[in-house]
Amino acid sequence: MEFSFHNPTGIEFGKGKIKEIANLIPKDKKVLVVYGGGSVKNNGAYDQVVEALSGHEWLEFGGVEPNPTVETMNKAVELVKAEGVNYILAVGGGSVIDGCKYLAAASLYDGDGWDFLDGTAQVQQALPLAVVLTLAATGSESNNLTVVSRKSTDEKRMYFSDHSYPQFAVLDPSFMGTLSDRQLGNGLVDAFVHISEQYLTKTNDLLVNDGYAETLYKGLVTLASRWEERRTLWWQENLMHICNQALNFQLANGVCQDWSTHIIGHELTAFYGLDHARSLAVILPHLIREMIDEKQDKLAQFGKNVFGIENDNEAIIEKIEEVFESVGVPTKLTAYEIDGKVVENVQNAFKSHGYLEIGENGTVTLDKVEKIINRSIAA
Ligand code: NZQ
Ligand code: ZN
Repeated sequence: MEFSFHNPTGIEFGKGKIKEIANLIPKDKKVLVVYGGGSVKNNGAYDQVVEALSGHEWLEFGGVEPNPTVETMNKAVELVKAEGVNYILAVGGGSVIDGCKYLAAASLYDGDGWDFLDGTAQVQQALPLAVVLTLAATGSESNNLTVVSRKSTDEKRMYFSDHSYPQFAVLDPSFMGTLSDRQLGNGLVDAFVHISEQYLTKTNDLLVNDGYAETLYKGLVTLASRWEERRTLWWQENLMHICNQALNFQLANGVCQDWSTHIIGHELTAFYGLDHARSLAVILPHLIREMIDEKQDKLAQFGKNVFGIENDNEAIIEKIEEVFESVGVPTKLTAYEIDGKVVENVQNAFKSHGYLEIGENGTVTLDKVEKIINRSIAA
């Protein structure tokens, strides 16, 4: 067992915690408040941010789209530079947060910020960033991952940098009241797949990781089975907590990981606009089926400890599909408007991004990607 782990993001969890911003952001900072298409104005977050920042100098940038683009965020970079902003406050879901991680780094970089996404440059420094989370799903609020798209080339790429950790994140579940059923279902599925990409690989000797992953899984299964309670604070605060824990990368300590579902899903979003979680739900079950020889020991452990199912791989996979479908998230690619070029598009993107051997064993090849996508289409 060997790993290094340092997650510096402070978590302020609970109703009313937003007022902590007043103390946590130094008074001498000039703050840029960044948000998306306007949901923050309906869920109370914007008004509370304005109140909390009453002692600060601040300005705002709205209009970050779901699956944030460099095209939009580069406009924010210009604003930061022109106004001498030196602190970023992201108010929203994963898209606003990721857009701001990019913004914080690109604002202190002389070249084209896309360099971070295509790997030609590493982030060396970034403006300080804090988050007010309004949508539980990605875990971006306290991790070092950034996912940003480039509209002009239909690309969705990601990078890791320890400069991207937010300084702190406010997790107030009362802002979740305005989320649609679709967004709540998406959040549950995204967290489920985050746990899977860190857990559903090879058996290991790490009692803490496996035990914690299974606890988080069981939490999500409980929330799915009590879907009719999704409008309660109990349901939403538990979703928010689980989503956060599912991708603060604690589960990744010392284990091999398999991010193939995300890597395929990101291409589906880039080409066909599927919501992030929906792009995952149409891949994960079929990927497990295709890669069953490599995953069956861990799947058996998962099936037994999470669902109480033994010796039946297909029953376990179907149970995963049942969980996703029960919160309104389809598990077949044919639920979406895709065209006959889906395999070709994803394979070409994989070639140009160098994803030729992904997965925990490097065995998810282009040929496997084709089979996985075709399984989803045929399902
Ligand atoms: O734009 P606004 O008006 O804010 O509306 C958003 C958006 O339309 C809305 N929303 C957010 N909070 C709301 C709300 N609507 C009503 N009430 C509220 N309280 O929800 C819509 C979707 O928001 P978005 O931020 O796109 O969703 P999510 O949090 O799922 O983020 C998805 C993005 O994160 C990336 C995805 O690829 C995608 O680009 N990911 C980031 C990760 C990370 N950095 O760790 C990991 C993930 O695997 C993922 O790849
Ligand atoms: Zn995800």
